[in-house]
Amino acid sequence: MSTDIKSKIEALSQELEVHNYNYYVKSAPTISDYEFDQKLKELEQLETEYPEYASPNSPTKRVGGDITKKFNTIPHEYKMLSLSNTYSKEEIIDFETRVKKLIDGPITFVCELKYDGVAIGIKYVNGELNRALTRGDGEKGEEVTANVRTIRTIPLKLPKGDYPEDFEIRGEIYLSKQAFAKLNESRLAKGEVAYMNPRNTASGTLKLQDSSIVAERGLDCFLYGLYSKDQIVDSHYDSILKAQEWGFKIPKPENRFIAKCSSIEEVMNFINHWDQERKNLDFEIDGIVIKVDSYEKQENLGFTSKFPRWAIAYKFKAENVSTILEEVTYQVGRTGAVTPVANLRPVLLAGTTVKRASLHNEDQINKLDLHIGDSVYVEKGGEIIPKITGVQIEARSNTALKVVFTDTCPNCNSLLVKKAGEAQHYCPNHVGCPPQLKGKIEHFIGRKAMDIDGLGVETVDQLFEEELIKNYADLYELKFEDIVDLERMGKRSAQNLIDGVEASKQMPFERLLFGLGIRYVGETVAKKLAKHAKSIDKLIGASFEELIAIDEIGEKIAESIIDFFGIQENVEIVQRLKEYGLKTEVEEKAASEINDVLQGKSFVVSGVFEEFSRNELKDKIEALGGKNVGSISSKTDFVLAGDKMGPSKKEKAEKLGIKIISEREFIEMIS
Ligand code: IVH
Repeated sequence: MSTDIKSKIEALSQELEVHNYNYYVKSAPTISDYEFDQKLKELEQLETEYPEYASPNSPTKRVGGDITKKFNTIPHEYKMLSLSNTYSKEEIIDFETRVKKLIDGPITFVCELKYDGVAIGIKYVNGELNRALTRGDGEKGEEVTANVRTIRTIPLKLPKGDYPEDFEIRGEIYLSKQAFAKLNESRLAKGEVAYMNPRNTASGTLKLQDSSIVAERGLDCFLYGLYSKDQIVDSHYDSILKAQEWGFKIPKPENRFIAKCSSIEEVMNFINHWDQERKNLDFEIDGIVIKVDSYEKQENLGFTSKFPRWAIAYKFKAENVSTILEEVTYQVGRTGAVTPVANLRPVLLAGTTVKRASLHNEDQINKLDLHIGDSVYVEKGGEIIPKITGVQIEARSNTALKVVFTDTCPNCNSLLVKKAGEAQHYCPNHVGCPPQLKGKIEHFIGRKAMDIDGLGVETVDQLFEEELIKNYADLYELKFEDIVDLERMGKRSAQNLIDGVEASKQMPFERLLFGLGIRYVGETVAKKLAKHAKSIDKLIGASFEELIAIDEIGEKIAESIIDFFGIQENVEIVQRLKEYGLKTEVEEKAASEINDVLQGKSFVVSGVFEEFSRNELKDKIEALGGKNVGSISSKTDFVLAGDKMGPSKKEKAEKLGIKIISEREFIEMIS
């Protein structure tokens, strides 16, 4: 029986890995998403029931869930070197000359894209992903295995092949431009600051403690180097093709992501091609890497103290133009954050006319020492909005006026405030500053908040300008006859709007809570708050201590909630929403079902149980206000132990004095 289960788990895992490969690496799925999910669920179920057969490389690990409290630093088996950079084609010719001096006969080079992400070294033992290390200082790297397992294009278990028993594959983890834009869109919708560029975001994501967040962000990876004691092939190019055979996502020759070049002219053609074309890729590259193909020749060339002599990186110049800074203006967001914007003499850059560049905050202005009329360099790098990277100080006129960051709001004249430790200035006039008011209403009606049909940003603008609404509560006072005669409105749109507003009263409490636009209260936080506080009144009355006691609510969020409800007008608006019949508490039924007996308690569930499955127990813990954690630490309150709990877990729990309870004891505890 047990061998049957074991084989079933193995077969299902293998099948899911093949589908994963077909979908993510080959982009040619052979089953529907639904079928895939069904099979994954089946595997999850089996692993829950028989945890002893669950492999750390199971496809179920792709969705994350493992928490890494601290990344261990581990020495690299093969030093992780970087490349010497060049910025001119002359230097490429110098590289060829140096190589030719040391090597006789014709030389084949391999040109590859230089991916702008974060380097990773992944070790495989007997075809299974064993561990993944970041570059670190080149000698030692940080172990980020759980996070790397969530990257769908990285195989967890290789199908049978002629790979060595033990090898390491290296590559670059990156975030596609599309994934980056999607992430920022959702951050902005939550009132959070957008990330700067895909590279830093990929690097930050790889170091997140919660691998389920990593899984959601959609990191990807290109592999470009194979390291092993057994030599399977004798050139770099062949090693990449081998890696493809084994199931890795490699840069494809047919896309010209990699090419063999037998002369430096061919290398130059490759560089020129990608200098032109890189803007059309869905990922960022910052140059081209040129490598000597033959391993034997690489060995003969060897290394300098820092770099291989057999490879070099050619870095593209970031597209950059010079123009005049005409004015600095300021934009106010819905949270009151004030962002300086450089207004530029229009200039063509990377195919678009640039008139404005973001300056982020006061520190940025001071760092650049900006003066009005300055000749500034504008660059389009990873960021979507161009930025000013430098000033031609020698071209500055003596009479040029220094840019001094405004101390008042450009829209309502209020004196700006800046919190200690923060770089951003804020307009504190939350109840009277027009862009903040309009921004809040736009957020409130948004798809992820109250999702009001028949009402868009332009109509909000119109209603605001006509002084029909000043805040989102005013929407519920609108009458058909107030709006029907507005420009571009008409009877049908007016009725749709009124109906949409009415229908929004049925939105669940958590959506309303998100819609209120409290800084740092995004969708997920709103759900947590709704579940724990249960009603808006409880939230209004909650103390700082009560708020931070809620799972995942930190000091910053708690402070922001207290600040929000500290403003009398906000409380009045909420009071009105309540009177109009919006849902300001969790549904009756749901509330009665909620029982918080495990509030604040953290559990590690391990082993096999009689009455419930491991997942059912975990769901119960969550539903009753408790928290599931992946591993035992001094902060764990209980270890819920079933049959076959690992001896090391037991030992650790005993050592830390953590209470171990049985399934029976747990059932008693919650009844
Ligand atoms: S080869 C010893 N190939 O660029 C040579 N590196 O400074 C090892 N990179 O940190 C690197 N694309 O993360 C190589 N096609 C490519 C690359 C690449 C990006 C990164 C790599 C390394 C840095 C080199």
